[in-house]
Amino acid sequence: MSEAVHPVPADFESRIGPAELDALNHRADTDTDGFWLEQARRLDWAKAPTRAGNWSFHEADFGIRWFEDGQLNLSVNCLDRHLAERGDKVALIFEGDEPGHTQRWTYRQLYEETCRFANLYRQKGVKRGDRVMIYMPMIPEAAAAMLACARVGAIHSVVFGGFSPESVAGRIEDCDAKLIVTADEGCRGGKRIPLKANVDKAIALCPRIDAVVVVTRTGGEVAMVEGRDIRWSDVRDTLPTEAEPEVMDAEDPLFILYTSGSTGKPKGVVHTTGGYATWAATTFDWVFGATDRDIFWCTADIGWITGHSYVVYGPLMNGATSVMFDGIPTYPGPDRFWETCDRLGVTIFYTAPTALRSLMREGDAPVTKHRRSSIRLLGTVGEPINPEAWEWYWRVVGDGRVPIVDTWWQTETGGILISPVPGAIDMKPGSATKPLPGIKPLLVDANHQVLEGATSGNLCLSHSWPGQMRTVWGDHERFFQTYFTAYPGLYFTGDGCRRDEDGYYWITGRVDDVINVSGHRIGTAEVESALVAHPLVAEAAVVAIPHDIKGQAIYAYVTLNAGESGSDELRKQLNQEVRQHIGALAAPERIQFAPSLPKTRSGKIMRRILRKVAEGETGGFGDVSTLADPSVVDQLVAGRNS
Ligand code: WT7
Repeated sequence: MSEAVHPVPADFESRIGPAELDALNHRADTDTDGFWLEQARRLDWAKAPTRAGNWSFHEADFGIRWFEDGQLNLSVNCLDRHLAERGDKVALIFEGDEPGHTQRWTYRQLYEETCRFANLYRQKGVKRGDRVMIYMPMIPEAAAAMLACARVGAIHSVVFGGFSPESVAGRIEDCDAKLIVTADEGCRGGKRIPLKANVDKAIALCPRIDAVVVVTRTGGEVAMVEGRDIRWSDVRDTLPTEAEPEVMDAEDPLFILYTSGSTGKPKGVVHTTGGYATWAATTFDWVFGATDRDIFWCTADIGWITGHSYVVYGPLMNGATSVMFDGIPTYPGPDRFWETCDRLGVTIFYTAPTALRSLMREGDAPVTKHRRSSIRLLGTVGEPINPEAWEWYWRVVGDGRVPIVDTWWQTETGGILISPVPGAIDMKPGSATKPLPGIKPLLVDANHQVLEGATSGNLCLSHSWPGQMRTVWGDHERFFQTYFTAYPGLYFTGDGCRRDEDGYYWITGRVDDVINVSGHRIGTAEVESALVAHPLVAEAAVVAIPHDIKGQAIYAYVTLNAGESGSDELRKQLNQEVRQHIGALAAPERIQFAPSLPKTRSGKIMRRILRKVAEGETGGFGDVSTLADPSVVDQLVAGRNS
């Protein structure tokens, strides 16, 4: 691994230099509550909190609360508080799929649209604590629909537009959503996505939705159900542009976001109002440090946590200008990002390693034909960045003149935990560098030993932070079991990690049965259950294989019912099965038919062997003596090459 060190470029302007970062770390360690309450004071509170964290990771007194006596409304913090000074400042720049299909929304416009949505929710009987699902393209109305939930105290659950109707139905059912906001169609890379039609299919599977609000995006024809479906364009102008904000307790839930784990169906990750808001606002400021001159572009979709924290909430709480991009990196050509950066004057650009790898193979010309002179900071998120991609980002995109922030975090963490504070720390390509102030990572081994110094281990956190998830929706026990039992008293991230001699952290990837495909988290159990839903399939096991662009890809082993045999036609059907149950993002890269799977005598599948075979190894499988039938391994190896 490359251990090159890149010092912060001398002319990088930032409010936090090495001395300021030291002071923040010192304060966090010596006056912890004072430090956190000071971060909370970034927000406007209806009632300021007097208490910081109140948490325990131990079973007996398990619980996580932050700023619990405080009260606030998050839409007020994103909108109302800016109206006096920044009412006419651009809050969101919408950049559509076609270059130059751009709209600019000021803080005042976004405020008014949010209030309109809030009034519609109230008309439809949505009350504080009710769940609203949002299944939308990356259009400003989607941000308004989220902010309107915060305004009326409803809990939003945004579902990525790439998920199938069946996935939407599962989520509606799990959180018992009352209303859905969607659009007629999405439009990505020149292709249409039938969002409203998908919602109709989802509701057919799970008929408990009272109202569907349909925003016009493409103007494509959609079926409307009388008495249930409402066209936004029909009601918008009738709705008042003011709406009283609900005063929320800090610990009232703000949103649920579904994410995959190593077992079972997706978990509804619950974030609450005061702590999440504090952490999104604080980390946006520390890591990106946007000022009034900045145009901030995070390319993530609002269907993921990155879109929640760094397209919508973080930038808006800080009064920044945030770009909402409704396209893909390669449409209409591989220069889309850089052409758009120049045209919009983007100063801070934040994207995923997989996007960089897909652009890298197109060579430097699509980048260098644009000036990129407005860019002053680059960032990555979602998966480990290989040093080659980091160096390309640095040298070609950044012309070797701007810092890169490699930000490690998770849906569960609400915001960034390990990342350079640019201007304050030297960079090493492939390392997320060091924890942010107040964040306490530990590396532990399989025997629960906490490891010191330069070493590798499983990444845990010993102390809570305000943005930590509070529970799994409807299943608090699952929350505790999933994150706090592997290493009692610690939060276990599911990631492996190395710490070097300089105390830098190098995330090596998931150590559990979660696969990271293009920065999207896919649970092996979900893909397996989609595969076994096919009538000819007896059993399935999926593992990750390395992939040049996606980082990881899905390799599936499928055992058919006795007497059946595999074919390419069946592979197509199985692929379709996964698309139908989950979505195209979970489709396997390769399917191998296997007469049987390697199991221990107690029936546990040995994934270690499946991974090695998938990667093309033909020997060195280690101890196979615990297998019920060791000859299975040879069959698998033979099957891989056939
Ligand atoms: C998992 C979380 C955080 C928002 C996007 C993904 C991996 C994330 C990095 C990084 C190495 C990273 C981890 C983590 N990951 N960022 N900078 N370096 N790995 O959120 O879907 O909840 O996935 O993504 O494995 O556990 P998510």
